[in-house]
Amino acid sequence: MTTLSEAPVPTGEKILELKDVSKSFGSVIALRDISLHVEAGSVTCVLGDNGAGKSTLIKTLSGVHEPSTGTYEVLRKPVRLSSPRDALALGIATVYQDLATVPLMSVWRNFFLGSEPTTGFGPLRRLDVKKAKQIARDELLRMGIDIRDVDQPVGTLSGGERQAVAIARAVYFGAKVLILDEPTSALGVKQSGVVLKYIVQAKERGVAVIFITHNPHHAYLVGDRFFLLNRGRMMENWTRDEVDLDSLVKAMAGGAELEALAHELESLGGAAASAAEEVADVVSHPTRGEDTR
Ligand SMILES: Nc1ncnc2c1ncn2[C@@H]1O[C@H](COP(=O)(O)OP(=O)(O)O)[C@@H](O)[C@H]1O
Ligand SMILES: [Mg+2]
Repeated sequence: MTTLSEAPVPTGEKILELKDVSKSFGSVIALRDISLHVEAGSVTCVLGDNGAGKSTLIKTLSGVHEPSTGTYEVLRKPVRLSSPRDALALGIATVYQDLATVPLMSVWRNFFLGSEPTTGFGPLRRLDVKKAKQIARDELLRMGIDIRDVDQPVGTLSGGERQAVAIARAVYFGAKVLILDEPTSALGVKQSGVVLKYIVQAKERGVAVIFITHNPHHAYLVGDRFFLLNRGRMMENWTRDEVDLDSLVKAMAGGAELEALAHELESLGGAAASAAEEVADVVSHPTRGEDTR
């Protein structure tokens, strides 16, 4: 299988691609004909409201789910990932918001989580604690985070810093693609800023970052490309040049309000249900007929 870690992938190169991917769970179609690509050294934002299919999409990219139909390509070659381990072996790492770190464990232990450097050979092999702490401290510094005492429990760090530890770890262990599932959704403005900064740092180190969020402001600050998901469909694919903050906000906000309305109407049946279908169609094309530039 193609391994992303073997050679550096030049910035701008297509590193991952989904072609017409659908994913169903029984009768629930979570993703419909999704096409998406991700470039090295850039930040790809996936925006969408609750239930849009964002988590299903990243679980497909990270090997938790296999597509029901369609193809998943890594460096333009089709792959089949049957577990997150397969994805990680290719250099595709995922940071889940709540599971990213172990609060009671020290910063340096969290940094390595079982992959600590060792010293000596055979029966004399032991954990090289000094080296591990040094690497953790240096790598966090490279990401712009200065933690003097890497012995302190991760739980004592701020939310943004905890995410930073997880991001720095993934980058250190060779992630070429870093998937972040709503890393800022539980954070305040300042802490979100901290995480956004690390997203940019990772990008500058050549990593392809996939940033999942429902916050258009956060996406706009760091994104190079923006995909908009709605009810399992890919509604928009904008480069940074093609969109402004206003259109991103409108696309998100309009979608949420109208979709809630459409749901209500659908449940009433009859004429209301057909009106709901019309509304759903508008939701599907939030910027139709408007000049979005
Ligand atoms: N394992 C699953 N089994 C059944 N339905 C699922 C499963 N995972 C997601 N879904 C459904 O797929 C749709 C999209 O969910 P999800 O990907 O979690 O959206 P988001 O992350 O954008 O909120 C929802 O209708 C959800 O109920
Ligand atoms: Mg989700």
